[in-house]
Amino acid sequence: TEPLRLGIAGLGTVGVGVVKIVQRQANLLAQRCGRPVEITAISARSRDKDRGVTLSHYAWEDDPVALARRADVDVFVELMGGSDGPAKAATEAAIAAGKDVVTANKAMLALHGQALAEAAEAKGLVLRFEAAVAGGIPVIKALTEGLAGNAIGRVMGVMNGTCNYILTRMENAGLTYEEAFAEADGLGYLEADPTLDVGGIDAAHKLTLLAAIAFGSKVNFDAIALEGIGSITIEDIRRAADMGYKIKLLGVAQMTGRGLEQRMSPCLVPATSPLGQLEGGTNMVVIEGDSVGQIVLRGAGAGEGPTASAVMSDVCDIARGIRVPTFGRPATALDDAPPASAASP
Ligand code: NAP
Ligand code: HSE
Repeated sequence: TEPLRLGIAGLGTVGVGVVKIVQRQANLLAQRCGRPVEITAISARSRDKDRGVTLSHYAWEDDPVALARRADVDVFVELMGGSDGPAKAATEAAIAAGKDVVTANKAMLALHGQALAEAAEAKGLVLRFEAAVAGGIPVIKALTEGLAGNAIGRVMGVMNGTCNYILTRMENAGLTYEEAFAEADGLGYLEADPTLDVGGIDAAHKLTLLAAIAFGSKVNFDAIALEGIGSITIEDIRRAADMGYKIKLLGVAQMTGRGLEQRMSPCLVPATSPLGQLEGGTNMVVIEGDSVGQIVLRGAGAGEGPTASAVMSDVCDIARGIRVPTFGRPATALDDAPPASAASP
């Protein structure tokens, strides 16, 4: 059987995690995917860095765009990050060269995902991004497959591990913001630009992707009402605790009489509720479907293993020949239709 050949651009926390899974689980992947999964080529900024994995048998490209165009790459795996620049250029190059793309890059997708997905679909290619939302939790699969028969009324949750980690360590261990932030950094949770995390922007990127999938709308990051955790003090956390609440950076996307509402902001949640008990880098996504009722998904939202796990679920789908567009069909997107009087919560 022909192997599925990966070209991986970005060998940081997530990229190394993907290399480790491909190397460690070769037999399992071949069995689950029905064909071997191999890495043929890699790219990062520094060729000489010791990344703790053997990379010498993969072809090296200094330029991720060249990697994306290689004839021996079937799937371009973009794990560099950044909403524009090399990540976007290489993703566009991969699509132009007829390659499927898997990415964990929610910043790029929140701003350019609609156009990239439409470009991929126009060429019969797929753009998949399970790892971009809630790390290891297979929430995109839950929405597109497990809950495919449901009209979704609301999607909400805690979607940034860094913020949840900082808030819970400040509360439980009495750490300062700076100490908790340094711990989150050590765990590989932070974005290259951590203001994306603490400003709520990273979580908002994820929410806008989930909202587009859940409600069949076009990705519209500008429509999110956004506030980060920068102004939350230890006193706020203690006063909330005294009243039986915790402060969580909570995202909500829901259908209202005015259309699709999306907000990401610090919220009080009851301390004894599932969201209130969510600690550390863990994420939780709550989905309400008209037939299924409420589903709660909980798990590691960041870090090497969990995020690489999600990347591999997309890789396996492609290896199996599953080519359903993740965003649905743009021609029927909600934003093209008359707004929402017909939509029900
Ligand atoms: P990271 O540790 O900072 O790694 C980024 C990698 O990209 C590095 O290997 C870097 O090379 C490489 N890179 C950067 N610019 C490049 C360029 N111009 N050309 C070639 N290579 C370049 O980032 P990460 O945490 O793995 O995150 C990667 C992506 O996954 C991001 O989009 C992030 O938002 C997303 N994500 C991360 C997590 C997580 O838990 N970390 C979870 C979900 C999604 P060098 O190593 O040589 O510097
Ligand atoms: N910086 C992100 C977080 C990584 O802390 O949740 C996972 O997307």
